[in-house]
Amino acid sequence: MSFWQQLPLPIIGLAPMDGVTDAAFRQIVARHGNPDVIFTEFTHVGDLFHGQPKAFEAFRYSENERPIVAQLYGKDPDQFYTAAQVVCALGFDGLDINMGCPSKNVASSGSGAGLIKTPELALAIMASARQGIFDWASGQSLAEGGVKTRVIDYLRHSPFHRTETCSRQPIPLSVKTRLGYDSVIIDEWSQCLIAGRPTVISIHGRTLTQMYKGAANWEAIGQVSETIRNHGILLLGNGDIQSLPDALSHIRQHAVDGILIGRAALGNPWIFQAKNLMREAIQQGTNPCFPEPLISRDRRFSMALEHARLFETLQEHKYFPRMRKHLAWYCSGFPHAAALRAQMVRTTASEDIERILSDFQATDATAHLSEPIASTTS
Ligand SMILES: Cc1cc2nc3c(=O)[nH]c(=O)nc-3n(C[C@H](O)[C@H](O)[C@H](O)COP(=O)(O)O)c2cc1C
Repeated sequence: MSFWQQLPLPIIGLAPMDGVTDAAFRQIVARHGNPDVIFTEFTHVGDLFHGQPKAFEAFRYSENERPIVAQLYGKDPDQFYTAAQVVCALGFDGLDINMGCPSKNVASSGSGAGLIKTPELALAIMASARQGIFDWASGQSLAEGGVKTRVIDYLRHSPFHRTETCSRQPIPLSVKTRLGYDSVIIDEWSQCLIAGRPTVISIHGRTLTQMYKGAANWEAIGQVSETIRNHGILLLGNGDIQSLPDALSHIRQHAVDGILIGRAALGNPWIFQAKNLMREAIQQGTNPCFPEPLISRDRRFSMALEHARLFETLQEHKYFPRMRKHLAWYCSGFPHAAALRAQMVRTTASEDIERILSDFQATDATAHLSEPIASTTS
């Protein structure tokens, strides 16, 4: 039985987000939200195959993120065979194949959501990845499995490397996809995916051409729920979930085994916190009283600082600009937030943030003493 089958139902997970769910953000979410499962941002299978440093960078993680699933995208089944073994050797709990990315440079080359147009290739990729996992689990050495020497050398130095001597278990394979390419064809597309026998299928309720426009079509997800689940495959729904009360109503209405939350977790790692309350309500058929979702300004500030400090311990200084978007997400929903965001997007280190936030708090405290501040948020 894989970790997926041992998770409590419904499953509440953090969706993969390129440029967002990096090692620092995942750790912050694990510490403060603790979702049931966490996905890495997607990585190109060729980068892992060739041992590009950026692939290993994206696949750094810490123990508190478990269960953690590595996501790969690409279109070369042979590379998936080899890369799946590397994912196993890196100690990931699962491997997910991206069949949903709509971005032009991914999908137009036939990867990501482009695979919806080539179901035979999608099946070949799933079969190759599964074979890689099984060959690794049955004791084949990485060199025998075609893994390049530079990748093997890297793995030897990885803190998560599962050595040749440790017991090897096959990890579960999953797929994340969309409803179709330019129209909703999830009925026939899900039949193809089912034939590939993944443990989990996650469906974002939009087509490729919709990108992120319009509302996610949860009815279409619900439409294939019975078929997918009758094959013993877990179904995770995804798209536009803003909160756990929102998740609860989607789970109840559309009969999914769980959901993934993406954008609503930006600047809000706490979003997953009440998941056990939600599960109890589902089991008992009641409507829970969810805790007040408003997070105080000072809690946001301390999170911004904790996140930035963690980022600095994990990343080279030159990458600090990648942290700025998170700072902007934390700085919202309170008076004068826009002015603060304007300062945050120019920071180059956590000391800048500490100084800006303490200046802001001091000014704000003085302002409160002299005159009442209008309760506008920005
Ligand atoms: C910035 C960003 C990056 C994303 N990167 C990935 C990715 O690497 N892999 C993936 O499967 N989906 C990716 N997605 C899609 C999300 O996982 C999710 O399907 C989508 O955002 C809808 O869910 P939401 O409404 O909860 O955000 C990304 C979405 C965003 C906004």
